[in-house]
Amino acid sequence: MYRRIKNTFGIEAQAKRWLEYRSEAELVKMVSTLHADRVLHVGGGSNLLFTQDFDGTVLHSGIRFVAPISADAEHVWVRVGAAIVWDDFVAYTIANGWSGAENLSLIPGEVGASAVQNIGAYGVEAKDLIETVECVSLVDGSRRVFSNDECNYSYRSSIFKHELKGQYAVTYVTYRLSKRFVPHLDYGNLRNQVADVSSLSPAAIRKTIIEIRKSKLPDPQVLGNAGSFFMNPVVTREKFEALQADYPQMPFYDVADGVKIPAGWLIEQCGWKGRTLGRVGVYEKQALILVNRGGATGEEVVNLCRTIQHDVADRFGIDIYPEVNFI
Ligand code: EPU
Repeated sequence: MYRRIKNTFGIEAQAKRWLEYRSEAELVKMVSTLHADRVLHVGGGSNLLFTQDFDGTVLHSGIRFVAPISADAEHVWVRVGAAIVWDDFVAYTIANGWSGAENLSLIPGEVGASAVQNIGAYGVEAKDLIETVECVSLVDGSRRVFSNDECNYSYRSSIFKHELKGQYAVTYVTYRLSKRFVPHLDYGNLRNQVADVSSLSPAAIRKTIIEIRKSKLPDPQVLGNAGSFFMNPVVTREKFEALQADYPQMPFYDVADGVKIPAGWLIEQCGWKGRTLGRVGVYEKQALILVNRGGATGEEVVNLCRTIQHDVADRFGIDIYPEVNFI
């Protein structure tokens, strides 16, 4: 029985088999029934682009559990099931008076994906909070607990997206939150947008971030999208200096391995912001976001992606790559 696979891009895609498990034990049992079938483990479908139906088994976690498991004077460790909606978890931490996750408010998706994708926004990344990631092997059903170090985290990347791609399902993630509030306001003009810095709280930051996101990012219920479609490229300092001479207004951030340039700016300079190509397009308020204007296929999105990549490379000599996973 084919079943529609939920995805925020709103692209029609079917799976041959869909299985949801409620516990680690149930998952281990399921793994033994997969045999040589192709397997795709999904979360909320907010970072996927289907270019075809999936002729295999789609797995989804139904592990919904949230509880603090230890604490010291400064921190609390919270173990969270992979199926918990990420933003529900953020709201829970704030309701309990713990800080650390507030800058990551309203990011779509589920907890399991936060650990695979190393979600990030406004100067904070999931890796800054992750203590351990509990997994089950999709190959042989064995359990493995990854320390933060073992996850090889970097910008929107982890061992689960690369070396171990498709090999493990995340069952639980343990995050370390702070009892003492340390605001992170250094991203862009976040400091200026927080209403009153003197009475700052995690809840106030959450409110501001939600307002910013709502004003810039399209609601997938209204306009299909997968958030930032491309990653922001990092170029060498030499390359950056040469570009800056030609484009003095170009925004940038210094990072350890060079200079990061916002892909949204590069795409906008190429004239793509707000443009439509058939049933797909580039969002009017944020050029980093590709949108389904209604009834688009994954191939149409891929086509737009390639055209934009080509234009950016042609104009700036910079290669940009999708953040979204193509299936
Ligand atoms: N910009 C433009 N034109 C655009 C978009 C952006 O000129 O159309 C410029 C802005 O003016 C600003 C700079 O680019 O100077 C950065 O823009 P913004 O703060 O909107 O962030 P971003 O780099 O485009 C990244 C993340 C977002 C995250 C924001 C805030 C990636 C791929 N994207 O976007 O993450 O919310 O920073 O931290 O790193 C996501 O991953 O789905 C996502 C939305």
